[in-house]
Amino acid sequence: MKRLIVIIMVLLLVLSVTGFAQELVLYGSAEPRSIEVLAQGFEKATGIKVAWIRMSSGETLARLRAEKNNPQADVWWGGTTDPHSIAAVEGLTVPYKPKTWNDLDPRFRDPIGGARVIGVYVGILGLAVNEGVLKSMNLPIPTGWDDLLNPKYKGLIGMANPNTSGTALTMLCTQVFLRGEDKAFDYMKKLHKNIANYTKSGVAPSILAGRGEIAIAVAFLHDVIYEIQEGYPLKAIAPKEGTGYEIGGLNLVKGGPHPELGKKFMDWVTTPKAQESEATVGSYQLPTNIKAKVPSVSIPIDSVKTVNYNFKWVAENGPRLMDRWTREVFTLPR
Ligand code: G6P
Repeated sequence: MKRLIVIIMVLLLVLSVTGFAQELVLYGSAEPRSIEVLAQGFEKATGIKVAWIRMSSGETLARLRAEKNNPQADVWWGGTTDPHSIAAVEGLTVPYKPKTWNDLDPRFRDPIGGARVIGVYVGILGLAVNEGVLKSMNLPIPTGWDDLLNPKYKGLIGMANPNTSGTALTMLCTQVFLRGEDKAFDYMKKLHKNIANYTKSGVAPSILAGRGEIAIAVAFLHDVIYEIQEGYPLKAIAPKEGTGYEIGGLNLVKGGPHPELGKKFMDWVTTPKAQESEATVGSYQLPTNIKAKVPSVSIPIDSVKTVNYNFKWVAENGPRLMDRWTREVFTLPR
């Protein structure tokens, strides 16, 4: 009997150290290096282990929909607001105001209202251009969206698929806010003829352009700045007609296994320290905590002509736009 009690006590001890220790489950939709630095920083600050995976923004939305009846993640950090806000509208996430709320820039902290998505960073959409490739083909350097329709660029432009990539959905919505919906779809149909490939993730086309596999990519400019630092021969261009921007999202998953850990993470990840750690790994989005230092290489949003990006409208209309793009654009021959 005594032996049995000792065995049970040892088992309980082992379980308390391993099995019972709670682990935060994080879905991240920005670059893996930017998620990793946060996971490590949070573990260091709180002692709470983090299990994380990176999926593109639309891919994460699809995962949350699939897991609706058995949610696996606690919190979703990063990726563009739009798929986060669609998840919020569909009841896949729950509003939570982090303790840092008053230090978050009111322009960006609450893109659709009601603290249903918390803004964690800002990124400006634009073009990554490999001038060498264009020069070798005697082609002009594009300066705006309309230039991309030049038939000479056939097969030389890359963008991601708006169903999986928040970057590409930002691009589609940018055209809607620039031109109106029907004209935006006319534009996307014409652009389709020049597209080499639609990738799953938003950052992939700029890497292809950096390698010279294509010449022009639709990309977030902070990613292009990082790639230039990494040695890729790219130029970052803000389209002259005006461009869209993302607010990186943060969301508590509804019914996640550890909601208290999720809230703790949301409190911590919006602090200046957490936001400043991003630049240490070359993630140059603009921070939303007004006390966080802005990386010196980041492009200030006020220096760029932006469209009037209506995040609330996209929260309601995003799924319809994605379906329309699949039906009317993606299926067209190239
Ligand atoms: C990159 C950018 C992020 C952006 C994300 C969207 O990681 O650095 O700022 O939020 O792309 O990814 P997606 O694959 O959904 O386009």
